[in-house]
Amino acid sequence: MNTPWTHTTVLLNEAVEALLSGSTAATGTYVDATFGRGGHARAILARLAPEGRLIAFDKDAEAVAEAARISDARFSIRHQGFRSLGELPDASVAGVLMDLGVSSPQIDNPVRGFSFRFDGPLDMRMDTTRGESVAEWLATAELQQIAEVIRDYGEERFAVQIAKAIVARRQERGAISTTTELAELVAGTVKTREQGQNPATRTFQAFRIFINAELEELQQALEASLSVLQPGGRLAVISFHSLEDRIVKQFIAKHSKEVYDRRAPFAAPKVMKLNALERIKPSEAEVRGNPRSRSAILRVAERTEAQ
Ligand SMILES: C[S@@+](CC[C@H](N)C(=O)[O-])C[C@H]1O[C@@H](n2cnc3c(N)ncnc32)[C@H](O)[C@@H]1O
Repeated sequence: MNTPWTHTTVLLNEAVEALLSGSTAATGTYVDATFGRGGHARAILARLAPEGRLIAFDKDAEAVAEAARISDARFSIRHQGFRSLGELPDASVAGVLMDLGVSSPQIDNPVRGFSFRFDGPLDMRMDTTRGESVAEWLATAELQQIAEVIRDYGEERFAVQIAKAIVARRQERGAISTTTELAELVAGTVKTREQGQNPATRTFQAFRIFINAELEELQQALEASLSVLQPGGRLAVISFHSLEDRIVKQFIAKHSKEVYDRRAPFAAPKVMKLNALERIKPSEAEVRGNPRSRSAILRVAERTEAQ
């Protein structure tokens, strides 16, 4: 299916270069864990040798439909969360790319319910074929859980007040079912605003991360990448907010350090599984041309020989 909404790929050349490490006719198997609209995928395919392979993942049925338009025997797409990349054979992959978060077609399509800028059903699922929408969850969730989600995933100071307002409104007038209802409720509850930011920004981010289990899935996919990457294989991850970036940064740091066992101080240290290589931000020109890229951070690491 072709939608009128397009996605401008962030850090296109930088990410593909980091993944393929200079190779112009790469022969290995690569994973694009977040196909989106295929910006990175098409650039990777352009640099693969005939025997190279690209396995893509996306949770979103519209992304998968777009991928089905690529007619290339080296390419395949899986309609799955990227934690499933752990199902690939051990040490079979030469590079894993993750371009986290939502695509522009998801944000800009009101029906998906990701944005407070458009009125639509309060859904926010990347995979609309399974799971609960935000509206369904909010219809029964406990006040404490709502507050924790807003605080932990939105880093919102007014989490408790917003959660109380959501529950009060549910009791008085029934559950919230649209993006506009949620945005207006938050705006009426949060008294101080960060400059240039909609008061509902943090709450929307929090609900999106929660309903898609984004951080849990990221952690699981990173762990899985250690098994599927072959020695010398690259891990390249683009994140868009501090919660994601912290997980990626700490994961790479943890596996790029020699670990000593405190109970056996004289034993040889465990060898590191990753070499941390680079941290790349978009150029000023890219941010000017695509403001959505401004918070992007690409981190790159290389799998070592260690088991
Ligand atoms: C930023 S977009 C990727 C854009 C893509 N690199 C491009 O150039 O078109 C992120 C995509 O990843 C998908 N996604 C996010 N989290 C996912 C997950 N845990 N598993 C699979 N797909 C996921 C989203 O549905 C979205 O299509």
